[in-house]
Amino acid sequence: MPPDLHRLRALLADRLGMTFDEKRDDLLSEVLRTRAERHRMTERDYLDRLTADPDRAELRALAEAVTINETYFFRNIEQFHALGEVVLPDRIRARASVKALRLLSVGCSSGEEPYTLAAVTAERVPPDWHVSIVGLDINRAVLRRAAAGRYGTWSLRETPASIRQRWFHPRDGGVEVDERLRARVQFVEHNVVNDDPVLWAHRSYDVIFCRNMLMYLTDEVRRGTIARITRALAPGGYLFLGHTDSLGPRPEGLQVRHTHGTFYYHREDQAAPARPIVPPTVKTPAATPQIKIKPMQGYDRALALLRVERFQEALAAVESMTEPESRLPRVRVLRGALLAHAGDTGRAAELCERLVEDDGLNADAHYVIGVCHEGDASPATATRHHQLAAYLDPGFAMPRMRLGLLAKQAGDRQTAARELDRAVTLLRGETDERILLFGGGFGRQPLIALCRSELQAVGAVT
Ligand SMILES: C[S@@+](CC[C@H](N)C(=O)[O-])C[C@H]1O[C@@H](n2cnc3c(N)ncnc32)[C@H](O)[C@@H]1O
Repeated sequence: MPPDLHRLRALLADRLGMTFDEKRDDLLSEVLRTRAERHRMTERDYLDRLTADPDRAELRALAEAVTINETYFFRNIEQFHALGEVVLPDRIRARASVKALRLLSVGCSSGEEPYTLAAVTAERVPPDWHVSIVGLDINRAVLRRAAAGRYGTWSLRETPASIRQRWFHPRDGGVEVDERLRARVQFVEHNVVNDDPVLWAHRSYDVIFCRNMLMYLTDEVRRGTIARITRALAPGGYLFLGHTDSLGPRPEGLQVRHTHGTFYYHREDQAAPARPIVPPTVKTPAATPQIKIKPMQGYDRALALLRVERFQEALAAVESMTEPESRLPRVRVLRGALLAHAGDTGRAAELCERLVEDDGLNADAHYVIGVCHEGDASPATATRHHQLAAYLDPGFAMPRMRLGLLAKQAGDRQTAARELDRAVTLLRGETDERILLFGGGFGRQPLIALCRSELQAVGAVT
């Protein structure tokens, strides 16, 4: 191999984490020639400069020139069947109390994969849920095409006719992606070599697609990317790889699943050993009669179970409590939150309504009632309870988030932007206990990221 080509390869591996086999020598030679020419340099001088001062713009231009961006809608359609019929129903059960799902497409290229995720979720997830899909790629040029949302009809060669009719509109001889799908997807320029604490927040995503990209990465970057992806998956979340990508027979923390003639991975629900529990911070309102219980064994145990996402057991622990502990406001709120999480919104609302009769100032109870009414035909009751919760406790982030999401759904962008922005600020200081009780399994960072992506979707700059 010519020495200059060898240096270019080393640079691409070092700076961009990319590797290329000999079959791509012609491409790399051509890229080296054109980039050097562009800077009016010899190839050697160009490489010297790039080695000494790898400026961002040039690295970006190189990434755009060397990446392979082949993709199309519903590529490997059996994976989307598995997504629609196994994965989404499972995640819908897991997120019942927040009614929100987050998906990530790593190496999304010109957007066909994240828009396919948007179409499948639009078909499978109830309409009052909030679905946020992030597509990331190193190549800014393809991301611009993705954001435009326009494609030639050849991109739809594997797309089922019914989906095509519903979600794609003829435009200038090609198609345009429906506005409702576009509102679910955000595109981010990002190289997987780099960390980003928000994008890769732990336990953040319900589903991650990372297909046909790992083979272009060096071994070290590939290992780092897989570890990051695994951490970013929610416990119980799912990972889809391309057919030629493999994690080996025993990937750490992931179980292989086979359905629909394809395979994918499921992050194990880690029943981590219960950590010591931070003393509860939910206020006991003055109007509620004080009941002295010590120690709070039952409550602490239920909270510990909730922390490791053993929802059923947490609910059983709360339901087995007897008076007077079971009468405590925070126990009743916890029970309501767990029932809502299990999808039993009727009992959850009833329980918290009784609590509100005893103590009208309990912000948490109003919040749970609000969540339970979100699926109603008219969300006015939900809005009223969330407003009350936010009024009673101005530091309470979750009702702000719900008010923002409800306003976005109703098309009120201004209110949505205001409430979501407030939620982002308040979430930073929200108590761990409330995040645990009301976050539906999302942690603080994923909730902030969720609000941010919704803010972007309503056109507010974040
Ligand atoms: C072949 S496409 C795959 C597109 C889509 N996932 C699919 O399977 O249809 C691979 C994509 O990975 C992106 N990519 C390659 N290296 C990357 C990196 N280090 N960070 C982020 N994206 C990268 C490329 O720009 C390209 O768009």
